[in-house]
Amino acid sequence: MSHYSRPAGNRALGQLESLRAQFPALGERVNDHPLVYLDSAATTQRPRAVTDALTHYYLRENANPSKSLHTLARQSATLYENARGTVAKFLNARGPDEIVWTRGTTEAINLVASSWGSVNLHPSDEIILTVTEHYSNLVPWQLAARRANARILVVDMEEDGRLRLDQLEKLLSERTRLVAFSHVSNVLGLINPVKEICERAHRVGALVLVDGAQSAPHFPVNVQELGCDFFVFSAHKMLGPMGTGVLWARREILENMPPYQAGSNMAHEVDFESRSTHFAEGAWKFEAGTPNVPGAVGLAAAIEFLESWGRKDLWIREQELTRHTLSALREVKGLRILGPTEPTNRISVFSFVLEKREVLDIVKALDAMGFAVRGGDLASLPLLTRMGVTVAVRASCYAYTTVEEVDQLIAELARDRRGSS
Ligand SMILES: Cc1ncc(COP(=O)(O)O)c(C=O)c1O
Repeated sequence: MSHYSRPAGNRALGQLESLRAQFPALGERVNDHPLVYLDSAATTQRPRAVTDALTHYYLRENANPSKSLHTLARQSATLYENARGTVAKFLNARGPDEIVWTRGTTEAINLVASSWGSVNLHPSDEIILTVTEHYSNLVPWQLAARRANARILVVDMEEDGRLRLDQLEKLLSERTRLVAFSHVSNVLGLINPVKEICERAHRVGALVLVDGAQSAPHFPVNVQELGCDFFVFSAHKMLGPMGTGVLWARREILENMPPYQAGSNMAHEVDFESRSTHFAEGAWKFEAGTPNVPGAVGLAAAIEFLESWGRKDLWIREQELTRHTLSALREVKGLRILGPTEPTNRISVFSFVLEKREVLDIVKALDAMGFAVRGGDLASLPLLTRMGVTVAVRASCYAYTTVEEVDQLIAELARDRRGSS
């Protein structure tokens, strides 16, 4: 019996098998081996519930949404808005008017950097980031800072990846406009203390953007409890479709932000002199053009799927898997785990390097055996450089990952070590 199933016994194991059965991709063979998919931090696989929702929308419900025209158009508008409501509940937002649909985390951050940044960043203002940020929460701020002649300050970390809150405290001042950081690092898997950072930032009047690309998929998020001002995530990292993401922001902040993109749906009574042109309010001000209705419908289906399996239960199982994986990885000679080796405050994402082995060679050797893992700079070169490397391998799990799959990976890495030593 595996460690993964032990605490809840056979019932949990049976449940994991039926959960996995919802994902046809997990039954594929790759290079003559059963696929072991360990690249879920890049994108998860999708269950039938999500692909069925997409197919059903396109085959039976498709229309350019409108609240007042023909039946199909009205249905499409209802589906789109219902999905916004599902996301609002998922994040415990105050209402659907705080949920802006985007193409993903990256676009959501660009939206804030462009729109909020255009009216709130001025010369000598400061934006605080951390050394652990993904490029998507770094480059948009570099551009925004350049446009406004503002400055970027960077919070360092301890050797194991924990953020230097003492340093944050020193960097915060009346010049700080925004602190932007990831809830969970895509390299380290470490969960950052959002509440504490929000409290500190708010004390100097700064706002806080939380990049939730790697947190929302794994454990319940309550934006009101976290106390942040912006929260962003992507559907495709939590079983939903690609090309769909979410920006949550407090409604008073959205009200004071100018449109990001402009066009139909967000603009009304348009004239050339802009005398009568007015913009939609709330989240709708930021959504120009025909919306991505299937994306919204697909994300709502993903959320419903996760909730039907019990988000808290999935998180408990994931923590057991994390504990097991870390202790097994520690046994592989010459393997260095990047980030905390203790399982507390951690998701099941594991980045590592192997002594005397090139990262790309490891990825290729694993691929030949059916394992899908990621390798490279992981869009986080400043963090890797801080840890003394420029590339790393990353194995990342999700709700459907079994302890047997992790054990197979570790056996393969150990075999590889013996072969190369
Ligand atoms: C922490 C983090 N932020 C942002 C992103 C960007 O997400 P997307 O490519 O879905 O916009 C990722 C994706 O890997 C991520 O892991």
